Parts: sequence; C-alpha cells; structure tokens
Amino acid sequence: MPFFNYQAAFSGRESAFLDLIRNVIRRGAFILQQDLADFEAHLAAYLGVRHAIGVGNATDGLHMAFRAAGIGPGDEVIFPSHTMVASPASAALCGAQVVPVDCGPDHLIDPEAVARAITPRTRAILPVHLNGRTCAMDPILALAERHRLVVIEDAAQALGSKYKGRFAGTFGLAAAFSFYPAKILGCFGDGGAVVTDDDAVARRIRLLRDHGRNEQGEVECWGLNSRLDNLQAAVLDFQFRDYGAVIARRRALAQLYDEGLRDLPELRLPPAPGSDPDHFDVFQNYEIEAERRDELREHLKRHGIGTLIQWGGKAVHQFEGLGLRASLPATEALFRRCLMLPMNLTLSDDDVEYVCGCIRAFYGR
Ligand SMILES: Cc1ncc(COP(=O)(O)O)c(C=O)c1O
Repeated sequence: MPFFNYQAAFSGRESAFLDLIRNVIRRGAFILQQDLADFEAHLAAYLGVRHAIGVGNATDGLHMAFRAAGIGPGDEVIFPSHTMVASPASAALCGAQVVPVDCGPDHLIDPEAVARAITPRTRAILPVHLNGRTCAMDPILALAERHRLVVIEDAAQALGSKYKGRFAGTFGLAAAFSFYPAKILGCFGDGGAVVTDDDAVARRIRLLRDHGRNEQGEVECWGLNSRLDNLQAAVLDFQFRDYGAVIARRRALAQLYDEGLRDLPELRLPPAPGSDPDHFDVFQNYEIEAERRDELREHLKRHGIGTLIQWGGKAVHQFEGLGLRASLPATEALFRRCLMLPMNLTLSDDDVEYVCGCIRAFYGR
C-alpha cells in the first residue's frame, strides 16, 4: 500500500478523462478558454466568493495575492513554520521579511505566537490551513483588525474545509488553493486558484497571471505567466462535480482510523470528524503524532505500508539556507513525532483496518 498511488488515483475513470481531453484537443482550447471560465465560476459558487481565478499553482497564487495586496520590501509577514516552504516563499519573493512562528496543539498557526511576533513593520499574516483543517480564524482576524494587517490564506490543502460554517479561503483578503495531483481535487500536473471578494484584487491577479495584460491586450504592469491551463481546468471541473462525495469518503476513512487507533496512548490523532463543532475537516492528510515514530515507520514499511514525513522532516525555519533564525519548540517537537498515514480514495475500509492492526501490533496491543 503506497502512501499515494498516482496511477490508481486516476485510472478508475481513465476513459472519461480521455474523452474530456480529446474534446479539449479537438476544440484547440488551451489557454484562457471556456473550461477555465466554467471551473472558475463553479469554484466561486461553491465557496460563495465573488472571484475565483485559475493560476499556475498555489505558490504563484499566494505570491500574486501578496503582490496585489501591495506587500514588498520593508514589510514583515508572519507565517507558521510548520508548512511547506512555498507558503513563505510567496511573500519572500515580494521582498518582504517572513517571520516564522510556532504552531499550537492542532498543528496550525498559534494565534498567541502571532500576537508576540507583531512589530510596527508587520503588514500581513499568512495562516496555513494544513491537512484539510481550517485554522481557528477568530483570534487571527481579531489580531489583524487590531493591528490593521492583511490576511492572505494558504488554503492549498483545504478546499471544502470550514471553520464555524465558513469555508477556508473566505476569511482574508485573498486565498490560494492547490490542485497538485495528490491534492483532494488534483489535476494532471500543477494547478491552482486564487479566490477573493475584492474586485480590485481580483482584477490585479487576472493581470498578474497573464503578463500584466488586460482584456484589450494592453500591458498595465509587470506580470507572470501563471494561468491555469484550460485542459487542467477541464479535468478539475469534471472531478469537482462529485467533490461532496469525495470529502464524505475521506471523513469516513478518518473515522475508521480514529476507531482503530484512539485507545493507543502512544499516539495523538487528529480530531475525529464531527468531534469539534467549530471545524469541518476534509482530511487532505491524516497526520498523527507517534512515540518511537521512526521505528513505527520502519515497521509499517516492512508490512508494505507507505507513510510520509512532510517536507523532508523539517520546518521552514530549520532550513539553514533560508537564514530564518528562530527557536520554535512546539513545531520542532512536532517534527520529531509527526507521521502521515495513507489517506486517499484508493483505500478500502480493509486497508485502513490493516494499517491500524499493524500499528497496534507495533505497540504490542
Ligand atoms: C501548505 C501548502 N502551501 C502551498 C503549497 C504549494 O502549492 P503548489 O504546489 O500548487 O504551488 C502546497 C503544496 O503542496 C502546500 O501543501
């Protein structure tokens, strides 16, 4: 059982995908075409936002969101160090100073750590909704309001997750989603979207993703080439139709893991689906904390089970080449204990039971 099986993830509907791709090829519809407009409209309607803009990937999406928000040299942007380097890179590439902070027990940005990191130069907060769980946004939004900070959400892993009934990606000035193939909604390569309710930000991002050009072809600013390919948009739009069922299945798998493992004192599990009324989680990942994590990982490998320690086993501030000096005890402790178990739609109930059985055997239970 590999951690993620790229072939199996898509092969079940291969002929439908091939029909769809053939259809796009026959129309010669590759860049900024109708399938993209359709997917953007469906994504915006699903989230209840005014604008969804397809972009090359979430990293570019976040970068363009920071640029649209006017973040640049001299500004500080606070981010959780428990994330992929892409999150802070998006702001660092605007020339901003990125400031890593610790995570809380939920593995997400700790609002108290954010409060301590605010300085007169702070301009923005970048909450990252990891593993399909939306950050507790009330304290973050309160800090942003008090200090007049911009909030840009990294929702790369969180399409469909909610906090207090509100979707991840709808709290800040703008947010970015990723459609990398292993994401819950994944395409056949790189893809992303920026969402916002702000008309001026949306217009700016539409310019930035297409060389700074407006609809008349007039170049208004320096831009990138970061459009979501029409072919990828068609692939995404097709899969998006059953997104509710996909989320329901992931939550059912998480429930099975919870039932199979919750009595083990050596583990700390993510909150079970429905156990916290403020959160609706979509389980992009099922990340546990485990005692003797590395030995457990080896044991699972010997039993044919693939697991993952995210991002090379390091928090962003631990990559020395980035020059971010910080001591973040909760994040550092988490990276010694965290392990992702297989979580995807190719898993059967029996697969999850097998994983749980192997983990129980490891701890002698
Ligand atoms: C939390 C987080 N932020 C940003 C990204 C970057 O997304 P992309 O690969 O679409 O640029 C990822 C990608 O996996 C991610 O997990």
